Amino acid sequence: MPSLAVVGLQWGDEGKGKVVDALTAEADLVCRYGGGANAGHTVCVGSERFVLHLVPSGILHPDKRCVIGNGVVVDPDGLLGELQALRERGIAVSPERLALSERAHLVMPYHVALDRLREERAGAQRLGTTGRGIGPCYTDKTARVGIHAGALRDRARFERRLQAALRDKAELLGRVAPEAVDPARLLAALDRWQQLVPYLADTVALVHQALDAGERVLFEGAQGALLDVDLGTYPYVTSCNAGIGGLCAGTGVPPNRVDRVLGVAKAYMTRVGRGPMPTELPDRTGAALRERGEEYGATTGRPRRCGWLDLVATRHAVRFCGIDAVCLTKLDVLSGFSEIRVAVAYRLGGRVIETMPADAEELAACEPVYETLAGWAEPIAEVTREEELPPAARDYVAFVEARLGARIAWLSVGRRRDQLICRGEAGPWTGA
Ligand code: GDP
Ligand code: IMO
Ligand code: MG
Repeated sequence: MPSLAVVGLQWGDEGKGKVVDALTAEADLVCRYGGGANAGHTVCVGSERFVLHLVPSGILHPDKRCVIGNGVVVDPDGLLGELQALRERGIAVSPERLALSERAHLVMPYHVALDRLREERAGAQRLGTTGRGIGPCYTDKTARVGIHAGALRDRARFERRLQAALRDKAELLGRVAPEAVDPARLLAALDRWQQLVPYLADTVALVHQALDAGERVLFEGAQGALLDVDLGTYPYVTSCNAGIGGLCAGTGVPPNRVDRVLGVAKAYMTRVGRGPMPTELPDRTGAALRERGEEYGATTGRPRRCGWLDLVATRHAVRFCGIDAVCLTKLDVLSGFSEIRVAVAYRLGGRVIETMPADAEELAACEPVYETLAGWAEPIAEVTREEELPPAARDYVAFVEARLGARIAWLSVGRRRDQLICRGEAGPWTGA
């Protein structure tokens, strides 16, 4: 079984970093396919905690190779900083272990300035972006004025691309962030950014060679399917296909070479930034989920909005991502609630619906239809076998599985690598 994709099924932060790190033990190559430094993937190894933004979560396994695919948007200073921080913590990162696609687009200082300016000007209608320049960078890519990482190799080529990119930006940013559109300043930064040149590679060929050689390739999704620009809660989404659709375009690997897709879903919902969230709990229960789950953004530190599991929204993601199996994370956080609710449908304008409306305003008007399940008091973080879970926890998992339309292959009950419970014989690599 040479390839497995890991995709978030909600609004991000489902625990993809932890799951990818755990799966890397059985992989040869780990490849990020989309998003940028808006992602914050946490991996806990022993007492150490790492938050990865651009570097794949496989990097903490010293003998594994990692790839930043062409679909990722890369802030060169951000990546250099991340590599340096990893090195300072004793993680070997060299071009032998990490390849950066020459087709990945660069997030430039003017993208970050534009992101912040647009959010500021939008006032009450802002999206609540991470401010990492993601939207403007993908906009430039689509508008065909983006800059490939490969352009770092050649100063003249970089300068030509920069000229094209800056054409309409001075008007917008000249007064508010002149340094971000100053060609001399940007060209001066190139000296620093060129430290990334040794990492540049034809990652399409590299990943195909690995697949042809029968190596195990793990694809690491960023964000979550409900933040997908096409199929998520538009316009409150990120600017790329965060669902499975982004994988093929973002790596050059066709769909028939992706053997299995593992969805990662939290046992409740969280969301950072703005946008509809039908099961949000702006009360003590929501605050309890936030405190117990330590729900604060790994990238921005913002408190995450919390609510009960929304099976309508999560099932939508399962469907369009072609999920073979699910890892249900943070089940331990639900210990101590006397009852647990799960949204199984929505009520909208007097009707009960079981699918997610496309329009954000309609979704915001949806009232969840809940089923209430019994909670359990016992902590479960050290449980290693499903049979040892409290009966109510097992019932919860069985209920979710039956309504989700995908097998729950793994339960995650803590931050550590080993806090994973395998359900049944088959692991995520091997199938049902
Ligand atoms: P990602 O963006 O999907 O990689 O997720 P984040 O790292 O942003 O957020 C997930 C948070 O939950 C991190 O702090 C993880 O260390 C933590 N985490 C992951 N799985 C579990 C789990 O099963 N239980 C608990 N309590 N924490 C978890
Ligand atoms: P990981 O990979 C959670 C959200 C932002 C905002 C919206 C648009 O850690 O799961 P952007 O900066 O992308 O233009 O912001 O998307 N968002 C995330 N939320 N986890 C993420 O990544 C996210 N990446 C973007 O909060 O609502
Ligand atoms: Mg995250």
